[in-house]
Amino acid sequence: MSGSAAFDAWSAGKSYEHYMGRWSRLVAEKFVPWLSPPEQAAWLEIGCGTGASTAAILAGAAPRSILSIDPSADFVAHARAAIGDGRASFQVADALKLPAQPASIDVVTSGLVLNFIPDRPAALAEMQRVLKPDGLLSFYVWDYPGGGIGFIHAFWKAAVEIDPDAAKLGEGARFPFCTREGLLALCREAGWREVAIAPVEIETRFEDFEAFWQPFTLGAGPAPGYCMSLTEDHRARLKARLAERLGATGPISLAARAWMVKASRRG
Ligand SMILES: C[S@@+](CC[C@H](N)C(=O)[O-])C[C@H]1O[C@@H](n2cnc3c(N)ncnc32)[C@H](O)[C@@H]1O
Repeated sequence: MSGSAAFDAWSAGKSYEHYMGRWSRLVAEKFVPWLSPPEQAAWLEIGCGTGASTAAILAGAAPRSILSIDPSADFVAHARAAIGDGRASFQVADALKLPAQPASIDVVTSGLVLNFIPDRPAALAEMQRVLKPDGLLSFYVWDYPGGGIGFIHAFWKAAVEIDPDAAKLGEGARFPFCTREGLLALCREAGWREVAIAPVEIETRFEDFEAFWQPFTLGAGPAPGYCMSLTEDHRARLKARLAERLGATGPISLAARAWMVKASRRG
């Protein structure tokens, strides 16, 4: 694991749900209609986490089946228990070694995952390997360089004010390719065809500052992993700085923006 990935803590399903799953679900609900997938399709989902996007696909895409994989056994167990739909199955597996035969899947998808895979060209090639010739490739990632997830952007901004070394840990610095141009280049280099890219935005609303802060103390995900690695004194200073910036009382509403990508397989 590289230094900047040191806090990518992917476990503790309930904590992840509270920190991110509830928001990624809102993106997935907009992504599925944009994708306009065929009904009765065989889906493969990479990096299902706690099943936020799996649920949106089952609710909105009328799939025949969906195999959802994630390397975190904890997340897979959480998703399996939460979903309970006969069309869905879950497996512990990695994006670089998908548990599917060549040319066997109608729709390959992945929500908020690709940036966490160091060898992205290999991941895109593996997605193509399992896709049928007329199938649909798809994924979405947060628009990290463009502000991405407002509440995480605010967290890292305050963190860097207190500890300049935290600058290399923020997702904006780690994932500069998550722009329209960067994603287009990545897909073209992989030989994906008819690439379409569109932005999607959701509102993340917290009833007050404590509701904003509490998910960062749960340890699931890069920013919470960093937050819980700090000394108590350092964490208290970070919390105070954030309260100063965002307002210690009243609701907090911030935008979160992602890029949606769809394409067809190389002919
Ligand atoms: C931000 S979460 C997204 C989870 C879910 N798709 C969602 O929308 O809530 C990133 C997920 O990517 C998974 N992940 C990280 N590296 C992976 C890899 N090499 N192959 C597949 N999944 C991976 C993590 O375990 C985690 O569940």
